[in-house]
Amino acid sequence: MPSETRSFAIQGRSDVVVAGSQGRRFAVRHGLDVRRATELAIVVSELASNIVKHGVRGEIRLIWSPETPPHGEIAVEAHDVGPPIHDLQLAMTDGYDDRGPIDPALILRRGGLGTGLGAIARLADRLEVREEAGGKVLTARFLLR
Ligand SMILES: Nc1ncnc2c1ncn2[C@@H]1O[C@H](COP(=O)(O)OP(=O)(O)OP(=O)(O)O)[C@@H](O)[C@H]1O
Ligand SMILES: [Mg+2]
Repeated sequence: MPSETRSFAIQGRSDVVVAGSQGRRFAVRHGLDVRRATELAIVVSELASNIVKHGVRGEIRLIWSPETPPHGEIAVEAHDVGPPIHDLQLAMTDGYDDRGPIDPALILRRGGLGTGLGAIARLADRLEVREEAGGKVLTARFLLR
């Protein structure tokens, strides 16, 4: 069975919506049930919205790898050219940015509660970050059951 990759450029809010719905279709096509495919779509949307908010611009890549044990995997990669995530463990904590707790006085103005990465970590089987030339990539993995 061949692997398959699809890429979506992310520069603004409308790209976030398109990537999310395409992510859902990709997931159903490769065997995730509807509920899990919808969870993958949420993960795509959160990663893409983080590119727009924090990562300047970038790309979502959906990668189907049938050889990953036991039954294959869909990886959602979020590449961007923005600054590194200072501390992923802190950033994954609800109500935190990548350096610590978000000041409650700033919550309304900053546009985000600091809960996106926490949701991704709960929905995906794994979440990891790595630096790459000119930016970074966050990868959320969904294993087929
Ligand atoms: N692509 C990115 N580039 C740089 N920093 C990021 C990126 N994604 C997340 N971060 C950092 O991690 C923090 C936590 O991200 P998270 O998605 O949980 O919260 P948020 O985007 O601030 O708010 P919310 O997702 O709730 O709207 C961000 O506040 C930011 O500091
Ligand atoms: Mg976010």
